[in-house]
Amino acid sequence: MDTKTTRVSPADIERQLGFCEKIAERLAAQPKEYMAFVDTYGCQQNEADSERIRGYLRAMGYGFTNDENAADVIVINTCAIREHAEDRVLGNVGALVHAKRRHPGQIICLCGCMAQEEHVAEKLRQSYRHVDIVFGPHALWKFPELLYRVLTRRGRVFENTDEPGSIAEGIPVVRQGKVKAWVSIMYGCNNFCTYCIVPYVRGRERSRLPQDVLSEVEALVAEGYKDITLLGQNVNSYGKDLGLETDFADLLEAINAIPGDFLIRFMTSHPRDASQKLFEVMGWCEKIAPVFHLPVQAGNDRVLKAMNRHYDRATYLDKVRRLRQQVPDVVLTSDIIVGFPGETTAEFEETLSLIEEVGYDALFTFIYSPREGTPGAKMPDPLPMSEKKANFQRLVDAQNAISARKHAAYVGKILRCLVDGLCDEEGFALTARTPGNRLVRIAQGEEDLIGTFQEIEITGANTWSLWGRLKRENG
Ligand code: SAH
Ligand code: SF4
Ligand code: F3S
Repeated sequence: MDTKTTRVSPADIERQLGFCEKIAERLAAQPKEYMAFVDTYGCQQNEADSERIRGYLRAMGYGFTNDENAADVIVINTCAIREHAEDRVLGNVGALVHAKRRHPGQIICLCGCMAQEEHVAEKLRQSYRHVDIVFGPHALWKFPELLYRVLTRRGRVFENTDEPGSIAEGIPVVRQGKVKAWVSIMYGCNNFCTYCIVPYVRGRERSRLPQDVLSEVEALVAEGYKDITLLGQNVNSYGKDLGLETDFADLLEAINAIPGDFLIRFMTSHPRDASQKLFEVMGWCEKIAPVFHLPVQAGNDRVLKAMNRHYDRATYLDKVRRLRQQVPDVVLTSDIIVGFPGETTAEFEETLSLIEEVGYDALFTFIYSPREGTPGAKMPDPLPMSEKKANFQRLVDAQNAISARKHAAYVGKILRCLVDGLCDEEGFALTARTPGNRLVRIAQGEEDLIGTFQEIEITGANTWSLWGRLKRENG
């Protein structure tokens, strides 16, 4: 496979926008309003991709619905990270055969990480004949052309050739909210952790140019966005492929210098590449939220090596210590895999001791799922699933106790929080986020506070969230 990143030219994107116009003309010639349903699975990268798919769809003249029966176009943006995620998608896609029977002109598209896997594409080709368009993440920028082809010639389209990946600027975006925004700063991954499918479906690591990222953030701040999350599978290695001076810490510093009252977050960091320079920049840049998602995956050195993570327990703990020196109140979260092939229960217990030692605010925990084509899928895996599940439960219980302890320590504090939405739980009016992104439910407050920073007194806490009240000047 060629390893060079291609930059999609502005002329190519213009051409795609030309297909959008042609589709818009066709739709406008009909008396009805055409609707699209975009359903997203997986990580924030997929959420960000779906915003671009919606951007294209809006340029084609589609309105949006969440009802599959009302949709003329259904786009399912899929995730391949674990088998369970794939099974759920295939189940839901299978069921769409009924929607299509009731609505024969309906076009069903399946895109995202699953579409990039050849064995999935083959299954769709053979057994899911109601799916019209299958395209992987590499082909997202050509979506208008693919849809135009199916609208005008009928037949099915499969566009998922393996490639190192490209970067396309200038695709229109319809964002999901008005307060928080995703900004992809890079795509793909070079790490090849032995359990992980991402490098195979998302291609090689490639960074957007710093000026493209900066102008997107400037525009978002001007539109009033208050919470901007920079996205990439390994943001700490931003810029390495560009051969420029700018590294991730420099990029953060440049974003921090954009005038305005807003927060900067980022995910995901790889512990190997999280640098002292980054910790220091976080320490003094006032707009960078004091939160760090630093996936550790396991606490035992042999397992970390077999996972190809390129750090050991001691190095990880040292980075956490140095991060806390620079950002003392940092909220720390992590991902953990239980039951990697060959992990014994004694080795798993080192994960338990590690989470106690670090004291994470929250964890995302997963039972290992073998992914076809990854080295992990070929490793001997003798531990019975019943034991993996028991270990998993011990981990969840241990973390719940830590989270409850951490949250209890918030009670009585007054924090500057971003009000981010209406709360649909009885007895609460609004939701907000602490600087470290913990959820706070607020009993009383008006809708027009959404999108503003407010002083909030934390009055209660449980394992998963906090609650509090607005601390107004007179109140
Ligand atoms: N790039 C990020 C996250 C990638 S996917 C990182 O490096 O951390 C998010 C999480 O899913 C991973 O951190 C890992 O904990 C989990 N994961 C990935 N592959 C998995 C698999 N095959 N089985 C179970 N969990 C997996
Ligand atoms: Fe997967 Fe590892 Fe890359 Fe994260 S760093 S996306 S876990 S290969
Ligand atoms: Fe899933 Fe693809 Fe993200 S596999 S986790 S949607 S990069």
